[in-house]
Amino acid sequence: NKPRHGSMDKDMAELVIPSLPLETRCPPFPLRQYGGFWMPEPFLPGMAAARAGFEPRPSDVLLASFPKSGTTWLKALAFATVHRADHPPRSLDHPLRRRNPHDCVDFLESVFLRPPAEDALAALPSPRVIATHMPCSLLPERVTADDAGCKVVYICRDPKDALISMWLFTKKTLAAAAMDDGNPPKQYTLEEALELFCDGRCVGGPQWHHVVGYWEASRTRPEKVLFLRYEDMLRDPVGNVRKLAEFTGRAFSEKEEAAGVAEEIVELCSIDALKNMEVNKNGRQEYVNNESFFRKGVAGDWENHMTPAMAARLDKIVEDALRGSGFAF
Ligand code: A3P
Repeated sequence: NKPRHGSMDKDMAELVIPSLPLETRCPPFPLRQYGGFWMPEPFLPGMAAARAGFEPRPSDVLLASFPKSGTTWLKALAFATVHRADHPPRSLDHPLRRRNPHDCVDFLESVFLRPPAEDALAALPSPRVIATHMPCSLLPERVTADDAGCKVVYICRDPKDALISMWLFTKKTLAAAAMDDGNPPKQYTLEEALELFCDGRCVGGPQWHHVVGYWEASRTRPEKVLFLRYEDMLRDPVGNVRKLAEFTGRAFSEKEEAAGVAEEIVELCSIDALKNMEVNKNGRQEYVNNESFFRKGVAGDWENHMTPAMAARLDKIVEDALRGSGFAF
């Protein structure tokens, strides 16, 4: 199932993409370097089409992340928070009890691979919640326009945990694909994944540039960009859901606070609750089983996979790259 090209500039697909630097060692997608970031080749036409055609509404909430940083969790929390009037978190037919978070909140660059994307987006009721793995500097200009645009919520995660989560997810995807083809799975060692990650050669990489781009935007335009950290969200999920609600213009009322609505949202979206839903045990996305999105959901699991030398190497690269930026993980 190859993504199709949305309504994009034909030159981009036929001329520009094939001329961009190519990286083929990072499964499952070939990557192309575009605007300083390594992006999956099959999604570049969707990114280009989104840049050309996305018309944000002021009420839109765009969830941005580097892959394997808590995107699925943020999709669930944001969807449950902004739609709580129509879908109370305790209701037994809440969409998140029937659909995977990725089916409740689509990626902008995927929507724009399926024309007519504008119609699909126009049909979504406001407030629309949409996600993206695009770096801040590559977002459609209308999203970031000073006088217009929409709200952006970014989720950031420790690079070592993002790398481990990505590596394990990729291995699982490769194993499933091999089963389908009847071939032995391709080897993909942590050493290989680390080498590429350190060089910024992974989906959305360099990870630290992806993060710092949004962090800077959150500093210059705090009313437009909210910067959340996965590790803070694990420590204080309710506090972070309150932040999300306030930022999207839907702070919890006194009545909701007294009724514990924020706590109910956190419960509905907890990894254990989501993992045990039928749709997440047996359902699938186009290229992956839903259960692959829910693994441990903790901070610091890298320690169980990386040697101290591997961790120190990545830490040093990140520290050097971020020196002077004012940002630290
Ligand atoms: P681990 O592999 O470290 O467990 P993404 O959603 O961006 O693909 O990120 C996946 C990571 O988020 C995985 O991390 C996954 O377990 C974790 N995750 C998924 N749902 C979660 C939830 N409801 N709460 C906390 N973490 C969650």
